[in-house]
Amino acid sequence: MNQTIENLIKHVSVRDFKDETISENIKEELIKAAQSGSTSEFVQAFSIIEITDPDLRNQLSDITISSPHVKKADTFYIFIADLNRQATMLKQHNQSLDSIKNMESLLVATVDTTIAAQNMAVAAESMGLGICYIGSIRNNIKQVAELLNLPKYTFPLFGMTIGVPKVLNQTKPRLPMSNRVSKNTYDNQLFNDLSTYDKEVKDYYSNRKTNPQDTTWTEKNLTIFNHVHRPEVADFLLEQGFSLH
Ligand SMILES: Cc1cc2nc3c(=O)[nH]c(=O)nc-3n(C[C@H](O)[C@H](O)[C@H](O)COP(=O)(O)O)c2cc1C
Repeated sequence: MNQTIENLIKHVSVRDFKDETISENIKEELIKAAQSGSTSEFVQAFSIIEITDPDLRNQLSDITISSPHVKKADTFYIFIADLNRQATMLKQHNQSLDSIKNMESLLVATVDTTIAAQNMAVAAESMGLGICYIGSIRNNIKQVAELLNLPKYTFPLFGMTIGVPKVLNQTKPRLPMSNRVSKNTYDNQLFNDLSTYDKEVKDYYSNRKTNPQDTTWTEKNLTIFNHVHRPEVADFLLEQGFSLH
């Protein structure tokens, strides 16, 4: 196994960072890595905002509720799914905006942004830095957009904290390959046979050093999906100019 794959496999989210600064050179390398990912039809539909203002950082951290480590991480980026550049071009050339408003373009921007972020995550981890995605900024997506002065045809997808890890959690066991890789067709029966994995996850949670729990993956999911999350996101996207169809 090569070093790249070894690094990928030992990924853990880091929520406790040392009080060490990441240099501007390193940050530039991280941004370059993010920028170099594949991008649908070369549209490059994302922007990255670094949050350096302490007041703004605190406000964003408060929005997340569950992620107070946003306040402490050395570096915090917000990844913006961004079709505003295309909107500007189209307007300047008197072309309809219909093609950037629809669900397909929303997916393109979401995927482009996610690829960029994951490139940054992999680059950071290859340098021994720790990262954590912060989707909980969407707890108040409208307020985040206002705080960052986001124009129409953009939305804040998630944040990412980066810093030098103080505490590294044990890696979380992923679904076994048999539960999610098949050949030529979707193997509904195998993909849903979670008995072995539930046991593995239960062992992981009960034995881990930080925040041990008595739960299986199935139980976790039943809790996560026992209510509809952030239904207001759709209204916000409509306000941002997307049509959602
Ligand atoms: C899009 C996305 C959003 C996430 N949002 C948060 C978050 O708001 N706060 C947090 O502490 N972790 C967040 N996470 C981290 C996940 O909880 C973590 O990746 C998952 O539990 C698996 O653990 P691992 O990354 O340590 O393997 C997020 C991960 C992703 C991919």
